[in-house]
Amino acid sequence: MIKQSPSKIKTGSPENFISHAQISGIGIALPEKIITNFDLAKTLDTSDEWIAARTGIHERRIGDKNTATSDLCVTAAQQALQEAEISGSDLNLIIVCTVTPDNPVPSTACLVQERLGAKQAGAFDLSAGCTGFMYGLTVGSQFIETGFCQKILVLGADMLSKITDWNDRSTAILFGDGAGALVLTPSHAEKSGLLKFRLKADGSGASFLMVEAGGTRSPACEETVKNRKHYLKMEGKPVFKFAVNAILDGVTGVLKEENLTVDDIDCFIFHQANIRIMENAAKQLKIPMEKVFTNVGRYGNTSSASVPLALYEARQEKKFTTGSYVLMVGYGAGLTWGSALMRW
Ligand code: UT7
Repeated sequence: MIKQSPSKIKTGSPENFISHAQISGIGIALPEKIITNFDLAKTLDTSDEWIAARTGIHERRIGDKNTATSDLCVTAAQQALQEAEISGSDLNLIIVCTVTPDNPVPSTACLVQERLGAKQAGAFDLSAGCTGFMYGLTVGSQFIETGFCQKILVLGADMLSKITDWNDRSTAILFGDGAGALVLTPSHAEKSGLLKFRLKADGSGASFLMVEAGGTRSPACEETVKNRKHYLKMEGKPVFKFAVNAILDGVTGVLKEENLTVDDIDCFIFHQANIRIMENAAKQLKIPMEKVFTNVGRYGNTSSASVPLALYEARQEKKFTTGSYVLMVGYGAGLTWGSALMRW
């Protein structure tokens, strides 16, 4: 017999009805150390002028050698749990979206689970490049909507500084470290919470953003280290073009399904890779830049952390309030992209 999902059962008290997943708490973590464009120009053939004009980035946060991704996760998670007024032991599931885990094995999610005392929770890592957080948000929301879980922690956390070739000016200027955490719980109100999702991938662009060695194709050895194959390489130009199209598709895709237009949206949160990508996409979509939240200038591209970091700061700056529509889009290695429409 097919069991009906609890989300579709609309009997008895309103609490039995789950309309969507909602965000009950947000937390962030950023390393203290700030590296400015001027700092980078001391060791690289670059300038503040070039970096600021081509990317909009002025500075980024970089973790020290003793800090690992799970450390940022735990700090962000504690803040999110506090806002949600729950503790680690209340969680059913922890998803850590990252491409920079503490170790290849075990998952960073298990390290976080232990440190949060989340004894009832399952835990796994999710890898989808800089789109990781959008994938994690979508996966977590499905578990809430089906009634399988009631309290989920979704983390977007990366320390790309640890896989950056600091001699390569084409990538070293772009990245920063950070983490963002969300607590997902069921929303019992109609049309409230995370309403629509879109997940996409195009593996034909896999080589555009890649760490060549350290996996099964090319296991770590003296040769791979000598040839700097453990660093993230990127072909900037095709990725730029892809990124703009990813935003266009991410925005129009979910809006169409929900019968809304860009004018209905109060705040757009795009992956913070380059201000020119956001401006280009906004122009094509006819979205005024005042509705596009940006903090890329202060943090650079923090990969999976970028959307939750921006969401946290946009809320702090009251770019959206109760009842506002917020549309988030992520894109990155894979290639992957994804979007989510939320009613706050
Ligand atoms: O999160 C994953 C998604 N990632 C992205 O979305 C990144 C997408 N790509 C980009 O944002 C841009 O392609 C970059 C910011 C990476 C590069 O900007 P660009 O406008 O595409 O520059 P370019 O690579 O075409 O380079 C233009 C020139 C070249 O010199 P020539 O050949 O014109 O003489 C580069 O060698 O700028 C030079 N250049 C630099 N100059 C000073 C490249 N990097 C630098 C640098 N400082 N850091």
